[in-house]
This record gives sequence, structure tokens and C-alpha cells, in this order.
Amino acid sequence: MPLLIDQLGRKIDNLRISVTDRCNFRCLYCMPEEGMEWLPKEGVLSFEELERFVRILAPMGIRKLRLTGGEPLLRRDLPQLISLLRTIEGIDDIALTTNALLLAEQAAALQESGLDRVNVSLDSLLRERFEQITRRDALDRVLRGIEQAAKTFQGPLKINAVLMRGLNDAETPAFAELAREHGHTIRFIEYMPLDADESWSRSSLVTGAEIRERIDQHLENGTRLVEDPARDQRAPAADYIFSDGAPGKIGFINSVSEPFCENCNRIRITADGKLRTCLFSQEETDLAPLLRGGASDERIAKAVRMAVHDKEPGHRINEPDFVRASRSMSQIGG
Ligand code: GTP
Ligand code: 5AD
Ligand code: SF4
Repeated sequence: MPLLIDQLGRKIDNLRISVTDRCNFRCLYCMPEEGMEWLPKEGVLSFEELERFVRILAPMGIRKLRLTGGEPLLRRDLPQLISLLRTIEGIDDIALTTNALLLAEQAAALQESGLDRVNVSLDSLLRERFEQITRRDALDRVLRGIEQAAKTFQGPLKINAVLMRGLNDAETPAFAELAREHGHTIRFIEYMPLDADESWSRSSLVTGAEIRERIDQHLENGTRLVEDPARDQRAPAADYIFSDGAPGKIGFINSVSEPFCENCNRIRITADGKLRTCLFSQEETDLAPLLRGGASDERIAKAVRMAVHDKEPGHRINEPDFVRASRSMSQIGG
């Protein structure tokens, strides 16, 4: 079976699966406080449909899966899906991105079903600011979820933080200390214009370069961030370690200031079965009618191949005629 390669020669081996568009938070940079419309239950792909889809894609070179949302832990019986996906030959990494609200109670079942790792979103270490950003008073529960996940899963835990100027960027040193104290990898993700409120502006963006400088200034006794020799050059995150040998890493996902689209290896399927070849896609390929309408595996494989062939060269956030994506972040899955 030929591999999935687009017309620019990029090999696609990473599939992000959104399992629900619902969320138990309302983060400023993602969703409005009220008024999101959810997909009807029957519009969401079933576990069997998702399993079949991944079985079709694995022989085409998909190796890494990431379950996203909305908030994926809101999807009932999620460990069942993970067990099904775990049986598929060729899949060597199954991960999940979560806000961790429900993680303390679900971590063990997720790990037992075959989940390899979780990445957690955490944008503030201060209770009130956490509530201001997520619109939920839930910092303590999230910290408990993080602690449980660090105990349950192998390897360092990755924590994703989106800094917004004047809101939480003063916490940069506190995040660096969190990495040093617990050995976590803290990844700073540049704020992207994917928020449903459309309130993103370049002035609210804090670039990775600026954050790195602030961390270097904060560190004492000549300690600095230095490039991680183990860094995967093709991954979106540029990882750094501390020059004094302290545990923990700092990663920068500089999607806006240093786009990494030329190395992009990923595609996404939304909860309602639309294939997206870029976070910023204007067009999608609706696979639900195929997955549900008796189409053969070959027919589905062909639809994916055609979409991948035409994958966008990259996002155009920095172009004067940039047009926002056809969906906001929670409907895509990050
Ligand atoms: P790892 O395999 O652990 O490195 O996963 P990951 O970093 O791909 O997954 P995660 O869900 O933690 O991604 C973190 C954030 O990085 C996402 O929420 C996005 O904001 C951003 N990101 C991930 N993939 C892409 C991408 O393809 N393009 C852009 N522009 N940003 C991305
Ligand atoms: N810009 C950058 N990252 C975002 N995320 C959500 N919305 C945005 C945005 N507008 C990221 C969060 C979370 C993941 C699910 O998506 O950091 O980790
Ligand atoms: Fe890939 Fe699009 Fe993200 Fe660029 S913006 S890395 S092309 S998904």
C-alpha cells in the first residue's frame, strides 16, 4: 500500500482524532463563554467507525495517534476506544491531550487500556487567573490530575501553556520552576488565531523567543536554557534543557513566529468525521457519509489520499490576506 505523501513531499504519519467537540472549560483563547453549538450525538463518529478508519490508514503509514476534543475525557467509555486502536498493527504511539479536570480519576483506566501518554493544558498556576482564563474554578483538581498522570504514565509529562500578553505572561518564571521542580516538560505554545471569539491580535501574542529570554533572565548563577541535544528536529516543539543539569525541559511551539509547516506530518479528523489536512484548512473532506454509507476500504483510502495530495503548504497567519480557519480550535482538536 503506497504511503501518504503530499504533493510537497511531506510524509503523513500522524493522525489527530477529535472524539468530541464538547468541553468542560471555556478557555478564552478557544471558546466563547456561552453559545457554542454542540454536534448532535448521532453526528459523532462511533468507536467502531474510528477503529475502521485507523485500520485503513495504518498500512498507509500512520504511526502516531493523538486523541483530542473538545475535552476527550468527556467522551463516555474512552478506554474502550483506546483498546480497539491498540490492536491495530503499525500504530506505535497513542497519546491524548486533555485539560486534566477528569484525569485523576481516569488515568489508571486509560493507561490500562493501552494509552501511552498524555499532554496536559495548564495556562496559570494562580487560582484566580486560572479561573479567568478557563472560566472555571478548577486549578486544584487539574493539579491533582497532573500529579496522578505523572505517576501513572512513563516518561516526562508534557504541559502545554498558551501565554497571552498582560494576562498570564508574568507567570513565565513560575512555569520554568515547575519544570525544574517536577521534571515536567513545559511547552509554551504561541497563541494562534483559532479562538471562536476572534479576539486574537498580534499584540496579545508572546513569542517563544521572548519567553526564552525571560526564562534566561530569571535563572540564577549563570544557568541558561540550552538546546536539547535529543531534540527531534521534525517535531513542532523546539526543546531546551537547563544548563545546570536541573530536571525538566522547556519546549517552544512557535507556530506563529517560526512556522514549522514545511515539516508538517499530520492530518486531523473531527468528531463528526471531516478530514482536515491543516489546522487552518478552509476546506474539509467529509468522510462520515463514506464511513456510514457502506463505502469500501479502498474508496475511503482514495478519498484520504486525494485530500492529502492537496494538503495546504502551511498556515498564512503572517500574510496580509490571512483568512481564519473554517472552524475554531475546540471543533478541530488542537
Ligand atoms: P507530541 O507528540 O507530544 O509532541 O504532541 P503534540 O505537541 O503534537 O500535541 P499537542 O496536542 O500537545 O499539541 C500542542 C499544541 O501545539 C496544539 O494544541 C497546537 O496549539 C499546537 N500544534 C500541534 N500541532 C500543530 C500543527 O500541526 N500546526 C500548528 N500550527 N500548531 C500545532
Ligand atoms: N492558540 C494556540 N493554542 C491553542 N490551544 C487551544 N486554542 C489555542 C490557540 N488559540 C491549545 C491549548 C491546548 C490544546 C488543546 O490546544 O494549549 O493545549
Ligand atoms: Fe501543519 Fe497546517 Fe499546522 Fe502548518 S499550520 S504545521 S501545515 S497543520
